[in-house]
Amino acid sequence: MRKRLEHLKAEAWKYINDAKKTGELDEIRVRYLGRKGELTALLRGMGQVLPEDRPEVGRLVNELRNQLETYLEERRQMLELAELERSLELETIDISLPGRQPPLGHVHPLNQVLEETKRLFISMGFQVVEGPEVELDYYNFEALNLPPDHPTRDMQDTFFISDDILLRSQTSPVQVRVMEKQQPPVRIIAPGKVYRVDLDATHSPMFHQVEGLLIDEGSTFGDLKGILNAFLEALFGKGRRVRFRPSFFPFTEPSAEVDVECIMCNGGGCRVCSQTGWLEILGSGMVDPRVLEMVGYDPERYQGFAFGVGMERIAMLKYGIDDIRLLFENDMRFLTQF
Ligand code: DAH
Repeated sequence: MRKRLEHLKAEAWKYINDAKKTGELDEIRVRYLGRKGELTALLRGMGQVLPEDRPEVGRLVNELRNQLETYLEERRQMLELAELERSLELETIDISLPGRQPPLGHVHPLNQVLEETKRLFISMGFQVVEGPEVELDYYNFEALNLPPDHPTRDMQDTFFISDDILLRSQTSPVQVRVMEKQQPPVRIIAPGKVYRVDLDATHSPMFHQVEGLLIDEGSTFGDLKGILNAFLEALFGKGRRVRFRPSFFPFTEPSAEVDVECIMCNGGGCRVCSQTGWLEILGSGMVDPRVLEMVGYDPERYQGFAFGVGMERIAMLKYGIDDIRLLFENDMRFLTQF
């Protein structure tokens, strides 16, 4: 019996020493100490041992069982440590590897000119304000001195929501909203979306305008010219000629449209400028005294000027884009060119 035990021990120790994984140790435990294990079988077979030998054999078997348990546990800890070290080694992250560069986006050409415009007017002391896109007829038309039979009040041009609510067709209503809340001096620009029933290569049902308004004592048409010249020079470069052409808007008197020398042909005449050498860029004028009266300003004391620029047109001219719809299709092949 003693021999058998020694043989069993030698065999078990060899298996334990050879085990490479903790899973193998589990198998060895089952093989010797499980319900059908070899050592368990020996304990069960104590009946065949002579009664006088039983205490001694029992002691030896129990001793071996304890030794086996202890040794299995010792080896398990060693193997676990080795396995941990191995996986740490395999799974370490090399933080010195250069990262992958995510693709960089582009600022939309329209936003580029919008941002440039805002920056410029802010530098001249203007404040940026916003007004609602869903607007009352009163602000979009009436308070701007647009008579009830004015063509832009026609259903053909304006998106009406109800009789007196509409999608603003211009940013000019923001002028009125600002003047109602504030006493002069006023010096604001109002960028934003406007809506008109219109769609072709140069018209979109939604487009962007930047409105400007300056009201103060003693402000003149000369101030308007100076500020617009500075704005257009910043956008289109120094030395480009600018002209003021008489025009009409119900909310300004006198009114002027501003042309810049065609940036495609430098004034020589081409398809873009319809052979005139000039491009119409914005509307402007001295604010009509009736508009000032309606917001409670004294037109004898305060004068001012206003202007409105279509930003899509500016972007198209500046970047040589020939179809306004390209600006709203979000085709990456187009946008990444700017
Ligand atoms: N609101 C006009 C339009 O959409 C543009 C405009 C013209 C704005 C003259 C003004 C202005 O402030 O003074 O056609």
